[in-house]
Amino acid sequence: MKSMHDCYELNNGVKIPCMGFGTYKSSDGCGTQGLKTALEAGYRYFDTASFYGNEELIAQAMKEAGVKREEMFLSSKVWKADMGYENVKKAFAESLKKLDTDYLDMYLIHWPLPEVGYKDWKQLDIETWKALEELYKEGKVRAIGLSNFLPHHIENLLEHTEIVPAVNQLEFHPGHTQEVAVQYCQEKGIFVQAWSPLGRKRVLEHPLLAELADKYGVTTAQICIRYAVQRQVIPLPKASTVERMKQNQDVFGFEISAEDMYRIGTMQPTGWSGEHPDCERIYFK
Ligand code: A2P
Repeated sequence: MKSMHDCYELNNGVKIPCMGFGTYKSSDGCGTQGLKTALEAGYRYFDTASFYGNEELIAQAMKEAGVKREEMFLSSKVWKADMGYENVKKAFAESLKKLDTDYLDMYLIHWPLPEVGYKDWKQLDIETWKALEELYKEGKVRAIGLSNFLPHHIENLLEHTEIVPAVNQLEFHPGHTQEVAVQYCQEKGIFVQAWSPLGRKRVLEHPLLAELADKYGVTTAQICIRYAVQRQVIPLPKASTVERMKQNQDVFGFEISAEDMYRIGTMQPTGWSGEHPDCERIYFK
């Protein structure tokens, strides 16, 4: 990979850019401006979700920036409350309408369980996935996948449904790399994507990352993003200024050595921002 516009091939042959822009909270308080800035900074892969409440703003930003639909890789997700066969169909149609498009490049199930302790998650995931499979077969979405699924959730789908998910989007950053889930997905040909590849800034002052940033002449944010790239994980960093947006793309001019990759991969746990799909949330400082 030489730039963020270079692509990997998913397990169905569809090409996906090796880096995208994470849009969660990107439009908080500033309407379409942050999204327009990301387009102007060169991002063409937007990762969104109905839950983010910014699908309409993305369509608006594309219009205002003069970016055509076919230049974009647009990915959205079905929210917990919209799981189940009929609900998915409705939620998908709603996302298309808001994004002002007649197809998506990718559509993901946002979480494997609608709530912690939900007993019938296996059946609900199967029904939800079957709806995604139909949307895919109808040509309304080019690739379908998962988000925040752990191996035991994925096994259920592989056993009872037809199409192997193209991706699984996980929280992934130094100090929280979910190795079991990453290894499982990569062995099954399911591309791993990283949400919060910068650990929502919590890891940016870590002494090891600071040492490596100094060694490679880059920032700690660039070390985090490059780490994901070298793990064949697709990073989806968020940022609100054009400088940080551009800095985060500029990770193709250096290579982290094997030794340093191991050092990052074995860092002490730093905590996480998200939640474990099966457990109540634990808050870290
Ligand atoms: P901001 O939104 O003010 O630009 P993650 O993608 O891991 O969730 O992290 C997002 C956070 O990291 C945001 O708070 C963002 O700040 C910050 N951030 C993004 N890019 C950089 C960077 N290159 N250097 C420092 N902080 C960054």
